[in-house]
Amino acid sequence: METTHPKPHAVMFPLHLQGHVIPAVHLAVKLASKGFTITFVNTQAIHRQIIKSRSQHHDDDQDIFAGARKSGLDIRYKTVTDGFPLSFNRSLNREQFIEGFLHVFPAHVDELVGNIIAADPSVSCLIADTFHSWPSSLAQKYNLVHISFWTEPALVFNLYYHLDLLVKNGHFASHDNREDTIDYIPGVEAIEPKDLMSYLRETEVSTLMHKIIYKAFEDVKKADFILCNTVEELELHAISAVRGKQPIYAIGPVLSNIGQNGSIVATSLRSQSDCSQWLDTKPHGSVLYVSFGSMSPVNEHDMEELAQGLLLSKVCFVWVLRPDTMSDAESYALPVGFEDDIKDRGLIVPWCNQIEVISHPAIGGFLTHCGWNSVLESIWCGVPMLCFPILTDQPTNRKLVVDDWRAGLNLCDKKPLTRFEVREKISSLMSGKSAEVLREEMKKVKEIIHNAVDKDGSSEKRICEFICQVKTKID
Ligand code: UDX
Repeated sequence: METTHPKPHAVMFPLHLQGHVIPAVHLAVKLASKGFTITFVNTQAIHRQIIKSRSQHHDDDQDIFAGARKSGLDIRYKTVTDGFPLSFNRSLNREQFIEGFLHVFPAHVDELVGNIIAADPSVSCLIADTFHSWPSSLAQKYNLVHISFWTEPALVFNLYYHLDLLVKNGHFASHDNREDTIDYIPGVEAIEPKDLMSYLRETEVSTLMHKIIYKAFEDVKKADFILCNTVEELELHAISAVRGKQPIYAIGPVLSNIGQNGSIVATSLRSQSDCSQWLDTKPHGSVLYVSFGSMSPVNEHDMEELAQGLLLSKVCFVWVLRPDTMSDAESYALPVGFEDDIKDRGLIVPWCNQIEVISHPAIGGFLTHCGWNSVLESIWCGVPMLCFPILTDQPTNRKLVVDDWRAGLNLCDKKPLTRFEVREKISSLMSGKSAEVLREEMKKVKEIIHNAVDKDGSSEKRICEFICQVKTKID
């Protein structure tokens, strides 16, 4: 039955990092396919990086939503300055950049939103990454429904949400943090301090990153709705605990291969097809995919041990070496001579369509930094993980994958990493009884997340409920 509700029009602001822009693009496409008008806003710096990557791969289309628009979706695209010239190196001048992100960027966003609304008063919602600290005041100023998009697991959300409890109990920001089990966070049965997000393990707790977290988690408490890129069945307690306080919807996994294609970073078709052809020559489940995401630095020692461990393991692999086409970050280098040593046992690629590669039947394992998008994509494709978390939410994501879902192994039980441990763990991941057990467990988790996005699945239901509530709120 037709409703009389107006068509929601949301202005959407992802965080300026690849691991956040990617799910935001997929969310935009998903919401547009359910009747939203979306005005998607990237920073000019991110826009330039996307265009640069596209033109390197002979794709001169500057419009990242051209495909979605061709299928009739109402997605508009705008850019906003982050306050720094395009030539400014945001990675080398990180502190200065974060200061600007906190204090200058919000004014530019405010101006842009004012202009968008002046030109089109149909705008009714603001969807912003939870790490932004300004959405609630902006939403209030322009009378918009405030929707916060959380691109990491609900467990991580819950821990940041209850920072006050961690402080009160002496597990964070105390002179000498407690190291015993944390069992008082609503929705978190128990977690060891070592599994907390890297920012909560630091002794200096007044850095700019901490300021962002404090401000963002004050702000999200004023949001009208929270969308989380997870699946309710996988994180029931964490979701329920927040739901007791605010409307939160687990709507994941928001991925590119579900529904409309929202791929933003072009991949050279040639290298992608070279990769598929190479994988076609390998037995099922025999190849290890290796990638550490877009912003996680692997130090020289670990690179050496990883590379030598891979050689010792004799397993075939695809290694994404420069996944940083969308950041100013320095890429990490392989040890000298490695490429000659691997012969045809390994393929080193600068970038690929990850989900397409790991869904190839030849892929049998994923050596990952546990970025949340990679975790979801790996589960989606049913590929067990070898976990090597580096920073931010990755140690906590590891806990979910290895300890809770038993769909992966730890690469390194005790630092420093050694090549022999790498060899052994790769072997346990890829072959023998341990590999069989992991695949069985992974099958169960995969089924859960596939079911969630089915017509009657939990994520599909939640997104419909959310849209219904948003329309009522707009009314
Ligand atoms: C960052 C943080 O590191 C992560 O912990 C957080 O959850 C999100 O922000 P990132 O390091 O980029 O993310 O890792 P991840 O979340 O795994 O995202 C990487 C994305 O890039 C994935 O969607 C993956 O498919 C894509 N990718 C990566 C490619 O498409 N091709 C590649 O070659 C490598």
